[in-house]
Amino acid sequence: MPSMLSDGTVPSHIGELLPYQPGKPIEEVRRQLGLEHVVKIASNENPLGPSPLALKAMATDQTVLSRYPDAACHKLTSVLAEQRGVPQDEIVATAGSNELIGLAMRAFCQPGRDNVVMPQYSFISYKLQAKAQAIESREVAPVDGLRCNVEGILAQVDEFTKIVFVAHPNNPTGAHLSNEELATLIRKLPARIVLIIDEAYYEYAVVSDDYTSAEKYRGDRERLIITRTFSKAYGLAGVRVGYGISTSEITGIIHRGRRPFNVNTIAQTAACAAASDDDFLKASQKQNTQCIAEMQSLFDELNVRHEPTRTNFILAKFGPASQSVHDALLNRGLIVRPMANWGLPDYLRISTYHENDREFVHRILREVCAS
Ligand SMILES: Cc1ncc(COP(=O)(O)O)c(C=O)c1O
Repeated sequence: MPSMLSDGTVPSHIGELLPYQPGKPIEEVRRQLGLEHVVKIASNENPLGPSPLALKAMATDQTVLSRYPDAACHKLTSVLAEQRGVPQDEIVATAGSNELIGLAMRAFCQPGRDNVVMPQYSFISYKLQAKAQAIESREVAPVDGLRCNVEGILAQVDEFTKIVFVAHPNNPTGAHLSNEELATLIRKLPARIVLIIDEAYYEYAVVSDDYTSAEKYRGDRERLIITRTFSKAYGLAGVRVGYGISTSEITGIIHRGRRPFNVNTIAQTAACAAASDDDFLKASQKQNTQCIAEMQSLFDELNVRHEPTRTNFILAKFGPASQSVHDALLNRGLIVRPMANWGLPDYLRISTYHENDREFVHRILREVCAS
C-alpha cells in the first residue's frame, strides 16, 4: 500500500504539518543522558509548582469523577466573571487557552478562503493550528528589533482576514505592547475582524507599571477576545484550563464549535480554587520578578544579549553558537528551549527557575558560556 501521506488520503495541509515540539521532558533527558540531576526551564512553567489551594481542591470529592463534567463550567465562569467584573456569559472556559485559539479559528474562518494575521516570531501555536485547519496565516515582520509592528498588522489585513492574533506579552520575545500601541490596534483594526489579545502571561505582566491589559479597552471594540490561562502564574499547565473574555455573542459562537465537556471536572475544580488563591498568585509574581532580575544580571555578566520581558522567561541571543550552547547545557542537565523552529535560530528561550535550582542553573550557564 502507498503511504496515506502520498496517496491523497491525508490532505496536504495536514501532510505538510510537523507536530508541535514541546520542551524535552525531564524523565526523557534523565534516561537518554544517564543524568541524575536535570532541571527544565524550557516551557514557561511556574517554578513554584501548582497553586496549593488547587491541589487541595483536586484531592477532595473525587466521587464526582464518575459523572460527566459540568459542560457549561458554571462555577468556574461565575468565579471568573466576579473576579473580572463582567457578566458570566462573557467568559468562556476551555482546555487551556490553546484550545480557545483553535476554536476561534474554527468558529470564524472558512478554510481555504480566509486568513489570520499575526506578528512574526509569535506564539507558534497560532500558525500550527491555522495550518491544521487549512487556514492561511500571514506573519507581519517586527519593528525595532523584535517588537510587534502594529502599523504593519493594520496594513496586512484584507477582506478575507477574520482574526488578528497578538500575544501581549508575547512568547517567545517577552515583549508587550505599549498602551498606545494596544489602543491603536484595538481602535484602528477594521471592526469586522476578531482581535485576539492573548494574555497568557497577564498575571506576571500586570505587576509592571507600563503594562495595560486589553480589558481596559473592551468598550472600544466589540470583536475582541482576551485569552488567559491557568498554565502560567497559577501553576496548572498539566491540568489544561484557560478562558476567554469577550462579548456574549462571541462566547456563544465559540460554544457552538467546541466538543462537549471540553474542560474536565478536575480542571474546573482546580481552576476555581486557583483563581481565589491570592497568596499563591502574589508569591508567584514576587518570585518571578526577582528571578527575572537575577537572570538579567547573569546574562549581562556573561555578555549575553537578552530581550526585555514581562513574562516568566527570557529570550537570550547566543548567536550562531546557539545550538551548541543548547546541547552543552542539555548534556549537563539543563533543559532550555531552542528557537530555530520558531524562526529564531540565534536565540534560546530560558524560563525562570526555583530558588533551589539557582546555584545549578547559574553554574551550568557560567560553565557553558566560558567554554
Ligand atoms: C502566548 C501564549 N499563549 C497561549 C499559551 C498556551 O497556554 P495553555 O494552552 O497552556 O493555556 C502559551 C503557552 O506557552 C503562550 O505562551
